[in-house]
Amino acid sequence: MWVKTINKYKHSRRIREITLQLITIEHSLTIGNSYMCGIVGYIGTQTATEILVSGLERLAYRGYDSAGVATISEGKLNCVRAKGKLYNLREKLERDVTQSQIGIGHTRWATHGKPEEHNAHPHLDQAMGVAVVQNGIIENYRELREELISKGYEFRSETDTEVIPNLIAEALANSASSLLEAVRQVIPCLEGQFAIAVISADHPYELVVARQQAPLTLGFGQGEFFCASDVTALLPYTHAVLTLDKGEMARLTPLGVEIYSFEGDRLTKFPRTLDWNPTQTEKQGFRHYMLKEIYEQPGVVRTCLESYLNPNWHADENPDFSPVTLGLSPRIYENLEQIQILACGTSWHASLVGKYLLEQLANIPTTVDYASEFRYSPRPLIANTLTIGVTQSGETADTLAALEMERDRRANLEPKFQVRLLGITNRPESSLAQLVDQIVNTQAGIEIGVAATKTFVAQVMGFYFLALDLAYRRQTLSMERIGEIIDGLRHIPTHIEKILETQESYLEELAHEFVETQDFIFVGRGINFPIALEGALKLKEISYIHAEAYPAGEMKHGPIALLDSKVPVVAVAMPGNVYEKVISNAQEAKARDARLIGVTSAMNAQEAAHIFDDLLTVPEVEELISPILAVIPLQLLAYHIAARRGLDVDQPRNLAKSVTVE
Ligand code: AGP
Repeated sequence: MWVKTINKYKHSRRIREITLQLITIEHSLTIGNSYMCGIVGYIGTQTATEILVSGLERLAYRGYDSAGVATISEGKLNCVRAKGKLYNLREKLERDVTQSQIGIGHTRWATHGKPEEHNAHPHLDQAMGVAVVQNGIIENYRELREELISKGYEFRSETDTEVIPNLIAEALANSASSLLEAVRQVIPCLEGQFAIAVISADHPYELVVARQQAPLTLGFGQGEFFCASDVTALLPYTHAVLTLDKGEMARLTPLGVEIYSFEGDRLTKFPRTLDWNPTQTEKQGFRHYMLKEIYEQPGVVRTCLESYLNPNWHADENPDFSPVTLGLSPRIYENLEQIQILACGTSWHASLVGKYLLEQLANIPTTVDYASEFRYSPRPLIANTLTIGVTQSGETADTLAALEMERDRRANLEPKFQVRLLGITNRPESSLAQLVDQIVNTQAGIEIGVAATKTFVAQVMGFYFLALDLAYRRQTLSMERIGEIIDGLRHIPTHIEKILETQESYLEELAHEFVETQDFIFVGRGINFPIALEGALKLKEISYIHAEAYPAGEMKHGPIALLDSKVPVVAVAMPGNVYEKVISNAQEAKARDARLIGVTSAMNAQEAAHIFDDLLTVPEVEELISPILAVIPLQLLAYHIAARRGLDVDQPRNLAKSVTVE
């Protein structure tokens, strides 16, 4: 068994890593388990069930396939669970008349194995006295389960979580003096990355939570206290929150919150106040969150410009300070020889635009890797490297693990090889923010739609600022040129507004023609190749239409064989360096009967109308600025096709907002 191997070779880090992967694979192949989940907990004076379910509804955007709540009433645990959507749980709860002021709830997102009710959380111990919800994975659960079975315990689910309530119940039956103490005794037995919330029928005024890895935030109300995997669940009730660090646990009672280390030391920590508005998590009249978030993009860019551009910087005054105020420490910039960026999905696409900007504007060699690849095949170590992790959620497991790996392999090396970690994230309270030295907060506001839109645009803005800051510090651009680019950036919000105003109804109509389409090809070049990738990803994520993106020049090396009249080709053809090249690549596609859709500048519309069957126009800007405009019609195209197909745009099948599993 892999667990035994891991213990035997604990001294060898690499073997341990490989073994952990094998455990995960073995585990995933054989049972239904719970990884990307949402936890909520409540203790106070109100009826817990409604607060728990509405909290779970606010976590639904993370993705889930079953849900449940457990409360305590008249000295007994009451657990209600349901497969599928949360309204199934609500329906079951309507028949439940018990009243309780304490409870825990959970949304489960199964990666493997069937999402059945018996696998849904909360899980109870055999005697039904302790209930636990877990987000994460207990890697050594098999060993623990076998041990418990040998003592006569019986299990009702196939999950890793069910061992926890049984272990806690056992600790309570033995020496533990309180629920907190029982949980504290059990934690060292659990290997893995998890966050848990626990209640016990015998301790009806106590909710205990613990965080090993998966995120967990506490909320402070008036005589009521909360916990949740994500602050969005807490917003309607409180803005005073405290995110637990790894290795911390807490006891929530109607009188207050006590925080401890896993070693049992009492910690003094203070909540912070969220400046989020609960309406940010509402649709505000839009049919879907995704559409609302697309429409929020002008505002997001304005916020970024206001936050990060120095209003006193004027190119013609030859200023001796940077035009950008990212607030980063000098160590981030010192003697930089290379930047390496690690990210996944849409954040990886934003990073590809970032690479172009950092290399072209600041003349600094930049690599971009999928975090999931980098962690198992890292690039050779280069001195004076800045490593940037890009993740809107700040919780993507692969990105966090790749950054941790980079930090660990650079530890104890000579100073010039030592790690410098920067994060670009939309969640300043996330695990990423705790891991890296500093962050650039993209300030896009909470994004609920699983398909990233406004956070992509905000990440790209972050890269413009970083590249301009570095260009200024490294003197790779003249003040005049920096001023020109900044001027261009300042116009982006009104340009996006124009696109939304002029293109949306056209795209809504156009989408109708692609409802039955099965394959799409997207092409682009240079700084707009990542936009083709992003357009294809948006389409496949929410419309389930197969879509691929290629650098336009690569089509003739193979993908062109796919083309016929049934495969539309979307070409991002923004005026600039590679415009003519993209046009000629597009014409090659047209010669193979493909229906051509062009994203181009309004100024070129007349000429482009001869080439493209359908035109998606955006305002004329210089090529360097164009990605942030070109992506907008592609977001709208994907959105309207998916909406026309009647799909669940905000929660597409099989996807989760925060991918906290490897
Ligand atoms: C984006 O539309 C996707 N849902 C997905 O690719 C996402 O970008 C990826 O999982 C990375 O997420 P992160 O930015 O939170 O790390």
